[in-house]
Amino acid sequence: MLTAMHRFFPSIIEPLLRSINARSLIEIGMGEGKHSHLLAAYCEEHGDELQCIDPRPWFDAATLLGKYPRVRFHKKRSIEALQEIDACDAVLIDGDHNWYTVTQELKLIEAMAKRSGKFPLVLLHDVAWPYDRRDLYYSPEEIPKEFLHPHLRAAIVPGDKNLSLTKGFNAHSFHATEEGTPRNGVLTAIEDFLKERAAQLRFITVPGFQGLGILFPLSLAEKQPPFRALIQDLERKTPLKGHVEKMEEERNKMLGKLGEHEHIVRRLQRECAEKEMILQRMRRSKSWRWTLPLRKLHKNARVIASRNRPAQTP
Ligand SMILES: C[S@@+](CC[C@H](N)C(=O)[O-])C[C@H]1O[C@@H](n2cnc3c(N)ncnc32)[C@H](O)[C@@H]1O
Repeated sequence: MLTAMHRFFPSIIEPLLRSINARSLIEIGMGEGKHSHLLAAYCEEHGDELQCIDPRPWFDAATLLGKYPRVRFHKKRSIEALQEIDACDAVLIDGDHNWYTVTQELKLIEAMAKRSGKFPLVLLHDVAWPYDRRDLYYSPEEIPKEFLHPHLRAAIVPGDKNLSLTKGFNAHSFHATEEGTPRNGVLTAIEDFLKERAAQLRFITVPGFQGLGILFPLSLAEKQPPFRALIQDLERKTPLKGHVEKMEEERNKMLGKLGEHEHIVRRLQRECAEKEMILQRMRRSKSWRWTLPLRKLHKNARVIASRNRPAQTP
């Protein structure tokens, strides 16, 4: 029910990619492939290559590969695939939204930058609530124990720090039971990574749709005036920015309400299915068949009685 990174493509991501003339891209986390298709079309027009990384995409990746010859698909976790790639202009991160994975991804991008001599533009989704300060785990068993927070498969509730089994959204995902603790969440991972690298890298965020983070080397802004202008525009504290933040707050509350109603609908569907089974069992029973003549008799008697009833006077 939450939204994905592709929502930022037309308004923010594509202009950023164009502004640095990005040609080789890496996408981490393909989901249903909506962003993969947009990025692949971009590469078809301007690019060199799109490398998509996802161990378990939610669609048949062959449809993407068949349509776009410039796409390479790594059916692996980002932590494995990033070690095999030597260089790129931009990385789009929207995979496993937890401190450990994002930290490893950033460190591997840094190692790649050492190999190629160029730190890429890095765009990260989910840098705002609910995953800024809380880990989500697609596969908790793949996270080393020392980095895995106590977690539950339960929903996030706007305005409540506790997870819920009866309301809220993203109930199918594993979430850290606490938020705001050390080494917890996507934004915390970025901030921790930046602690020792603040002299070379800059990070800004764009509000809405759970937040987009833009991480880039200072040298990129120096070398590329169109990119610098875009970043300056995005950073400006305009009234419109405050307005977007307020809209996001309201959207989150509505998502919470929607989640609550989905829980109710699911419960009612379960109850209906149980009642339907009881009814079917009853209809198949011997007693139901044996009492059929009686029920017919009762029906006929009611018809005759209604015919013989005197008309009511007003
Ligand atoms: C929210 S979806 C991505 C949506 C997509 N970026 C978009 O904008 O439409 C998250 C994806 O990350 C993938 N994923 C989970 N863990 C991953 C990992 N360690 N490395 C790469 N992808 C991962 C999931 O399989 C899922 O397809």
